[in-house]
Amino acid sequence: MTQAFLPFTRPSIDRATIDAVVKVLESGWITSGPKVQAFEAALSEVCGGRPVRAFNSGTATLEVALRLAGVKPGDEVITTPLTWVATANVILEVGATPVLVDVDPATRNIDLGRLEAAITPATRALMPVDLAGLPVDRDRLYDIANRHRLRVVEDAAQSFGASWNGRPIGSFGDFVSFSFHANKNLTTSEGGALVLPADIDPKLCERLRLQGVQRFADGGMEVDVLGGKWNLTDIAAAIGLGQLPYLAEFTERRRHLARRYFDLIDRGLDLELPPADFESCNWHMFQPLLPEGVERGAFIAAMKEQAIGVGVHYPALHLFGLYRKLGWQEGDFPHAERIGRRTVTLPLFPAMADADVDRVCQALPIALTKSRR
Ligand SMILES: Cc1ncc(COP(=O)(O)O)c(C=O)c1O
Repeated sequence: MTQAFLPFTRPSIDRATIDAVVKVLESGWITSGPKVQAFEAALSEVCGGRPVRAFNSGTATLEVALRLAGVKPGDEVITTPLTWVATANVILEVGATPVLVDVDPATRNIDLGRLEAAITPATRALMPVDLAGLPVDRDRLYDIANRHRLRVVEDAAQSFGASWNGRPIGSFGDFVSFSFHANKNLTTSEGGALVLPADIDPKLCERLRLQGVQRFADGGMEVDVLGGKWNLTDIAAAIGLGQLPYLAEFTERRRHLARRYFDLIDRGLDLELPPADFESCNWHMFQPLLPEGVERGAFIAAMKEQAIGVGVHYPALHLFGLYRKLGWQEGDFPHAERIGRRTVTLPLFPAMADADVDRVCQALPIALTKSRR
């Protein structure tokens, strides 16, 4: 019997959420409205009562955060080369200069031990990324930021539901940016949210989100800042509202499945496993590194032959053409490059059965044998 294809990720959307989306569609108001407001209020509860504004992507949230942080052309923003390219793209988008610091090979997140050496008088902000939902050490991060008087834009696109020392990511810190893209721990299909620090006016954030427009009670309006078109729809917010009650369950289930991978993966296969953190990490992705001598394309094909989907998140971004043109080259960030070349994302999503993990673990030795050079 052929087995059903197991994707590397799949969102869990329940019937009540589908019904809620239908209700929005039938309501006559399908763009930003009461559902977005309710979603923002519910997100704020998760984030310790801090102001949260919803956006139509986690890229828009990052860009607006940089603008709100006062990042301008000529400023430098420090981030990691091992992330979705959106992180660095938004720095370019606001006219600033990305400064990349290699990752710590153990956590695969920006190496905080090397970060300080990259700070210059032009540095304006730090933009750490919680890769695969594993939080960057917030104590060390904010110690550095505070000593150098730098703003922080936490790219927490992948770490919604994760925590640091028992505190939810988003409930503390400076700007915190989440993505609700379809493969995240919580989804709105596409979407994002920005948690705002106390010194930022949420009304300004709303204006930057929607063409800079300020509306008055008498129906008049004014535009005195340049804004984008980044508002979330009520359709998407209804999905998010339906997802939020499951947040703890999704995170727990992801942790359970990750633990099962650790229990079942044959250590003789020489896969390099991610840090075994079942407290803070939300296990947005499960990413072993392939052994030296295995051809990744052949490995992915061999897993596909066994009806298993495998993703790649991500090649080191400084080796993309756009970034090479800005002067980066092979060898600049050896840890990010090595991880970027060898990383594979195995299936992990809340609706997966324990038996699916077992199936993946049985498929691994076959695929590794087939893909050795
Ligand atoms: C680390 C990181 N930053 C930013 C983003 C951008 O989020 P979005 O796709 O919602 O624009 C993503 C999305 O995958 C991400 O993983």
